[in-house]
Amino acid sequence: MSRSNLSRRAWACGSALALVLMALAAGPAQAHHPRGLRDLTQRPLIGTAVNTDLLGSDATYTAILDREFNSVTPENAMKWESVEAQRGVLDFSAADRLVAHARAHRQIVRGHTLVWHSQLPAWLTSGTFTNEELEAILHKHITDEVSHFRGRIYAWDVVNEAFNEDGTLRDTIWLRQLGPGYIAKAFRWAHQADPHAKLYYNDYNLESIGPKSDAALALVQSLRRQGVPIDGVGFQGHLGIQYPYPDTLGENLERFAAAGFDVAITEADVRMPLPVTDEKLATQADYFTGMLESCLAVRRCVSFTVWGFDDRHSWVPTVFAGEGAATPFDENYRPKPAYFALRNALARHRHW
Ligand code: XIL
Repeated sequence: MSRSNLSRRAWACGSALALVLMALAAGPAQAHHPRGLRDLTQRPLIGTAVNTDLLGSDATYTAILDREFNSVTPENAMKWESVEAQRGVLDFSAADRLVAHARAHRQIVRGHTLVWHSQLPAWLTSGTFTNEELEAILHKHITDEVSHFRGRIYAWDVVNEAFNEDGTLRDTIWLRQLGPGYIAKAFRWAHQADPHAKLYYNDYNLESIGPKSDAALALVQSLRRQGVPIDGVGFQGHLGIQYPYPDTLGENLERFAAAGFDVAITEADVRMPLPVTDEKLATQADYFTGMLESCLAVRRCVSFTVWGFDDRHSWVPTVFAGEGAATPFDENYRPKPAYFALRNALARHRHW
């Protein structure tokens, strides 16, 4: 089947496997002369968060995006505050542009994120709602958004960051008003709106084996036992070189996979206290390599996504004072040691 035929069929059918095959369909030229990371891998898919303001308007940004990656996650464009800033007025325009761009460039889309305590619209956080009203509002949000993109999203981060570090459930508007059952309900509602999309639980500081990842594993296993549709777990992978590398990541991914879940690294970046030095860049490259190698080693690790690919547009300096340089390309889009490390790791595992 020709590449364009394959793409058309994949989109028409909307199944997760078809979308992946579409993203992997490479012309013979690319297979022999790999240009970007995406040409060096059959699994995992290699993804990035995308800033939709730069998509199309920044030519270099867009060229790197399409050369290197076969999976995209909107950095902000699918969050509730972006799609429904005003109650009842849905605006999917930025996310639609990304999804159309992804289709044209044979990239799968990870939908991010449906239920979170952050980046909620002001009308929601400042309003007063009964528990029943709030549940209806959440149900409508999930149904609106998932049905809008039905058949075009490979996987949804349905619930994001529901745990505290000690493994207890985070105190959020959802837990307070709907109780712990909000998680199962969110997955069921998402599945009703797009039965083909893979559904993920996603969180940070899940990399190591410990109280937080133990709680996440217990949650997803309990959801499965109750018949709740859940397919995978996203490990965000926000690391910093000033902290020890999470040595148990590989073993941890393996135990989730052994329990029957797909796994993915969904938001990898490796920040450092500024200023940048060659030594720090080398450590950063090792941290990126470690995360990618762990994913490569686990058959059910389906994607490895960086949270932005260039230092100029990374979220890190805006949130972590005095830190930055967390991505594989520098402020001028020049590849850093971390980029070459990712490339080399993929090349070492390429067996075709
Ligand atoms: C971040 C974005 O990168 C920023 O642009 C935004 O201002 C705040 O959110 N975990 C997540 C992501 O799941 O959605 C967050 O993205 C980073 C932490």
